[in-house]
Amino acid sequence: MASYQMANDINSLSLSPNFILPENHRPHLTQVSTLDSIPIIDLNDTDTINLVQKISQASEVYGFFQIINHGVPEELCNRMMTAYTQFFKLPAEEKAQYFTTDHTKQVKLFNYFLKIQGQEKVTMWSETFSHFWHPTNLLPENPPQYREVFIEYAKEIGTLMNRLLELLSHGLGLEKDCLHKKLGENPTLKAQANYYPPCPDPELTLGLAVHTDLNALTVLRQTEGVKGLQVIKDGKWVGVDPLSNAFVINLGDQIQVLSNGRYKSVHHRAVTNKTRPRLSIAMFYGPNKDTQIGPIEELIDEEHPPLYRSYHYAEFLEEFFRQEGTRRLVKEVFELHHN
Ligand code: OGA
Ligand code: NI
Repeated sequence: MASYQMANDINSLSLSPNFILPENHRPHLTQVSTLDSIPIIDLNDTDTINLVQKISQASEVYGFFQIINHGVPEELCNRMMTAYTQFFKLPAEEKAQYFTTDHTKQVKLFNYFLKIQGQEKVTMWSETFSHFWHPTNLLPENPPQYREVFIEYAKEIGTLMNRLLELLSHGLGLEKDCLHKKLGENPTLKAQANYYPPCPDPELTLGLAVHTDLNALTVLRQTEGVKGLQVIKDGKWVGVDPLSNAFVINLGDQIQVLSNGRYKSVHHRAVTNKTRPRLSIAMFYGPNKDTQIGPIEELIDEEHPPLYRSYHYAEFLEEFFRQEGTRRLVKEVFELHHN
């Protein structure tokens, strides 16, 4: 009973039965496609029309792309990765203060799991640390540089996100501040770091189960040289292999709804490997719970009837947590069906 409440010591995991997936949920790594990869987009393109077109195309076809020449200093990203690595390496006793299964906590350390009907929960081969960008006085005091580095990092990522929202708005043929406005005042800004230790048998486990991101926009940094993230494309898994000083950008469910299905929020997962630890830092931009979300009016006409009903984000969150631990099909609940 009590074992669910206790953190695994992430630095000395053994492949106990609670990590082992049933056959039909295993990653089947030999079937991952090596023929396809997600687009790489240079943000330092002076031809704005070309840039908007590339981002728009990637958002429609993949829902994922990597960006280079994004303007966020590499040295700051490295300091952020180091601070998180040190955090995950803290003694289990010190990390225990953050460990919780209560998702309403502002700062929390937890293990994702997969709920499979008629079975015990399967724990993901990872540890996740998440908190809001603000207020910063709740952030860890250890490692000592964590707060300072995080504040600087969040500021840079915030600027980058605003630029991406402008480019995405343009891509939809809208005013550049449109998505920003539709996502509303006081957006929900969250950070989520995922730490994946080496796993003795990557065919039996997952680092992160199949999911779509529930918010609007994700900016992800991953350990250089260590693969793990995979996305679905035409029913096949495709690796998002790390690129030097790049960010992985993916669109969340709210952008799919706002764009009336034009931009995709795509299923993805993280797999484990035998030899190298992997860290990813996901920075999320989403609406606040009182914001009303629905297909943007300018994108609706006779040929493009609304595919979703509008809702308050709080309703979406409620459905999200109702489906906790499953292969989430949250936005599907808000679909409208036309004959
Ligand atoms: C996430 C996520 C992927 C990764 O945090 O939502 O999809 O590579 N992370 O860790
Ligand atoms: Ni994700």
